[in-house]
Amino acid sequence: MGSDHPLAQKQTQSTGCLKHRKDIATTITEPVYKITVLPDGEQFDCAAGQPILTGAHAADVLISYSCRSGQCGSCLGRLLAGEVTYPRGQPDALSTEQRDAGYALFCSAYAVSNLTIELIQPEFPR
Ligand code: FES
Repeated sequence: MGSDHPLAQKQTQSTGCLKHRKDIATTITEPVYKITVLPDGEQFDCAAGQPILTGAHAADVLISYSCRSGQCGSCLGRLLAGEVTYPRGQPDALSTEQRDAGYALFCSAYAVSNLTIELIQPEFPR
């Protein structure tokens, strides 16, 4: 089969397309933000496309949780620096007053910048 065969040209074009797709795949990357957790100062990286709680647990940083869906309030903490978003809307367990006062629910919040957060330790009966 010579190089001027129609099938040979098609293969060349196909290879070119795959190479182009590979180039696109390597240039489109999801932002990753640095999350600093107080009071201990632990840090972890969190991809923009995942909830902060998921990123924390992937890095073995413990944030308390229960429902993972914004219903219980177990993952409530304070946002001391940076911004978060709630792609599925403001969670039920986070009031507008809490949000305006700098509180966040980490199971539902997604970072849109580097963050400094403060965990609120759950109180257990003694
Ligand atoms: S784990 Fe229930 S609100 Fe976040």
